[in-house]
Amino acid sequence: MPMSQAFEERLFPILPSVIKHFGTPFHIFDEQGIIETGESLKLAFKDVEGFQEFYAVKALPTPAILRIMHKLGFGLDCSSPSELMLARQNGFKPQDIMFSSNNTSTELIQLALADGGCILNLDDITMITKVAEFPELICFRYNPGERRQGTRFIGNPVEAKYGVRHDQIIEAYRRAKERGAKRFGLHTMIISNELDHRYMVETVRMLLEVIETASVALGIKFEFFNIGGGIGIPYKPEGKPFDIPALAGEAKALLDGFGQNHGYAPRLFMECGRFITGPHGTLVATVINRMSKYREYVGVDAATMTANPRPAIYETAYHHITILDSNGQPKHGGEEVVDVVGPLCENSDKFAKQRLLPRTEAGDIMVQHDTGAHSPAMGGNYNGWLRPQQLLLRTDGNVELIKRAETIDDLFATLKFKPNLLSHSKRICT
Ligand SMILES: Cc1ncc(COP(=O)(O)O)c(C=O)c1O
Repeated sequence: MPMSQAFEERLFPILPSVIKHFGTPFHIFDEQGIIETGESLKLAFKDVEGFQEFYAVKALPTPAILRIMHKLGFGLDCSSPSELMLARQNGFKPQDIMFSSNNTSTELIQLALADGGCILNLDDITMITKVAEFPELICFRYNPGERRQGTRFIGNPVEAKYGVRHDQIIEAYRRAKERGAKRFGLHTMIISNELDHRYMVETVRMLLEVIETASVALGIKFEFFNIGGGIGIPYKPEGKPFDIPALAGEAKALLDGFGQNHGYAPRLFMECGRFITGPHGTLVATVINRMSKYREYVGVDAATMTANPRPAIYETAYHHITILDSNGQPKHGGEEVVDVVGPLCENSDKFAKQRLLPRTEAGDIMVQHDTGAHSPAMGGNYNGWLRPQQLLLRTDGNVELIKRAETIDDLFATLKFKPNLLSHSKRICT
């Protein structure tokens, strides 16, 4: 179920004036929709004591969006220096920042622990000795290996570069305890864009089992466990949404059972990105060309690699498309099968392949749905094309620029530097 009807009703009538004011292409995000989804998550988990969402910054690392997460009372999941900076600059406190990097340098661990620190989630047992001043609160990312199958999008845990192996996990906590840790958490992330809530229920069960084993072996209690992100959204119109209330209900039952056996229950954390913002963003581009080759082509003024690389990178990634006329009215009739393409010198630069769309002309508007997560965030500058601006359709109905379009100067900035030559050439004496 792509873009909601409510978002369409808020956006389409004002689209011609938004286009006139800002020009295309742009991503536009629906503040109302994001807030409603965030609130629905909190409501579903209201009976799970201490539940906390840490929005995955990598999904949409734009400050205005992160400030919405702050207002919702969410923390942030960060995994790079710039994400940490964004979190700190936008008012997130150490306890609101979960830092889950991978193949982490000693310098990055230090950065994560500076400025009041964060919840440090170590991704490998060898990292324990690399933490200069060991924090009181520590978390490990767990990789269950052959115990879990993973899902078709994230792949098999045994092939994943993430996390501490099953046979190392108790030892990891033992070493952390030796280094002075007193408070403990456990993390994993083994699904991606999954629509079946039962995978996540199994993850709750799996982590509670690990917690139980570690608690008994080491005499420690766990403050929290984080079941990761990976909750999917139905990109296709016929798709069924992930059943969040069912997950919340089954997680609560498992936690209640744990509480009865152990006299306490750890808090449940999640770090969804896609579920929170994915459906609440769209890419708006103008159709600039109609071309007939061996296939029919609709050419737009945005490129996949800069604006939304997902359909170019992932063979199975589908983003629904609505074609509007220049007055913002959805077009109907004259349906034909086309490829919707950008201007990149790269044949995978296709927003849609062999898609049935209404008859489309130059001057029409392409609205590509569900670009609110892992879409602009994945954009790069291949072929020297520039990343588009980002707009926010605010709850007051106004539209605000929240990230400007890249310029050629931005692109060329790294080509301006002081000459720097390390000479290895031999002196030639004459
Ligand atoms: C560690 C971690 N947490 C959370 C997420 C968010 O995933 P999603 O946006 O699918 O919920 C990701 C995505 O790659 C991730 O790697």
